[in-house]
Amino acid sequence: LGPAYTEPLRPQIHFSPREHWMNDPNGLVYFEGEYHLFFQFNPQGDTPGHISWGHAVSKDLLHWQELPVAIPAIAGDQNELVFTGSVVVDDENSSRLCANNKPCLVAIYTAHHDKSGTETENREAQALAVSQDRGRTWQRFAGNPVLDVGLPEFRDPSVSWSEENHAWLMAVSLPNEHQVAFFTSPNLKQWSRLSTFGPAGITNQHNPKAQWECPDLLHIPADSGKGPGTWALKVGMNPGSPQGGSGEQYFLGNFDGRTFTPSTLPGAHGWTDYGKDSYCAISYNNLPQTEQPTLIGWMDNWQYADKLPTIPWRGQMTLPRRVTWLTDSAGQSLKQDPVVAPLRIGKPTDISRTLKPDQALTLPSLTVPAELTLNIQPNNAQTTGLRLYSDFDHYTEIAYNLTTHQLYTDRTHSLEAATAPPDFLARTEAPTAPTRPYDLHIILDRSSIEVFAQDGTIAMTTLVLPSTTKLRVELFTRGNTQPTQITGKSWQLQPIW
Ligand code: FRU
Repeated sequence: LGPAYTEPLRPQIHFSPREHWMNDPNGLVYFEGEYHLFFQFNPQGDTPGHISWGHAVSKDLLHWQELPVAIPAIAGDQNELVFTGSVVVDDENSSRLCANNKPCLVAIYTAHHDKSGTETENREAQALAVSQDRGRTWQRFAGNPVLDVGLPEFRDPSVSWSEENHAWLMAVSLPNEHQVAFFTSPNLKQWSRLSTFGPAGITNQHNPKAQWECPDLLHIPADSGKGPGTWALKVGMNPGSPQGGSGEQYFLGNFDGRTFTPSTLPGAHGWTDYGKDSYCAISYNNLPQTEQPTLIGWMDNWQYADKLPTIPWRGQMTLPRRVTWLTDSAGQSLKQDPVVAPLRIGKPTDISRTLKPDQALTLPSLTVPAELTLNIQPNNAQTTGLRLYSDFDHYTEIAYNLTTHQLYTDRTHSLEAATAPPDFLARTEAPTAPTRPYDLHIILDRSSIEVFAQDGTIAMTTLVLPSTTKLRVELFTRGNTQPTQITGKSWQLQPIW
């Protein structure tokens, strides 16, 4: 295949397929010492089409080995695209699909049939495939589909074992109704409906084309390690999310085994990511208790995903993110913490500085991939943060605006408008709480920036083009009369390839 993963825009610490188109992560499951990552994949080209399940495995969630296509699309009269879904470990052979009564992997995916011949509408229904050999080869179930409600759009089943019900639980999207439906099954083959949630939150009445996609119901432990934790239902929205294009909202609340009831306490509704480039994140099944839940998302946006100038691949995943539930004086929140520390090389560099009013201060250049942690004591600054320069006049700015109570990432100066993909040049914002710390945890890769802020209660993921291997970092503060103190560290990170 020749040299790979060395292209100038190629992510160095994020998974991307060697070549061709990729979108949503699918079937995240831990089984017999391996983390599996399946994904929406077109093995024939670099735009969506002939959607199949690609496959990669990892022993640590960071270093990935790409394997052959797991579940291929079917072309022709019987056309079937293999849309988003999940994989479970059928430990007790509840499905009777496991050979020799040994645990096997069962995929529950959306079989998408394009309108063709006499059919005037698309059709979507849920279908099974089974693997007896640790996900290397898959056979479709002869009795497919297993759940068909006769709708043209009905997709993205998220299936897990429900302790409450001692049965399988599916959260699945009714995209045009802005609803998530819950179903239960003893055997993955027969499903009965439990309840329906939504419309709720920002349902985008102004944009009837907005669809709900990729639901996931998570049980989240309390960040303090004490107490029972909470439930979160996250759901993607495309197009028309507040950041533009595709984005994901979450609801905190309670799931009693049948029904999801959203909490009415402050902070119960939010966005899993306030950047433009994190979508359809789903959680791992079958993880050891201490790692639950862990999410991976597609680091991209439907607005321009098929126009990014990356060759010969298109699409990359976010870093894995551990999720907990934080409750403090500002309310409750989802809290995310990226898995990245094993990639740190050597000791960190101290980048602590005291900035005079309206000062911009250049730090030693960073070699990408890199990681930064900053704790800001803004005093009376209006805006304080950093600029990452890829060359003399192109930069991305990440900063807290203490006047508007926002954190923002601004990439409007990262690229000339004439060469930017449509809707790419943008500034995204997240509301901040004055009682939470003004911290920044930033992960820099070729062509992406992931920001975690305010104790992990804000995630903001942004693709950045072009990309350089050296970044000039400038700390700045504006609108203050007193100095701003910043304590921080930076690490260089080890590429995964
Ligand atoms: C979300 C999505 C899913 C669908 C898949 C198709 O990005 O539209 O709803 O299953 O992509 O590739």
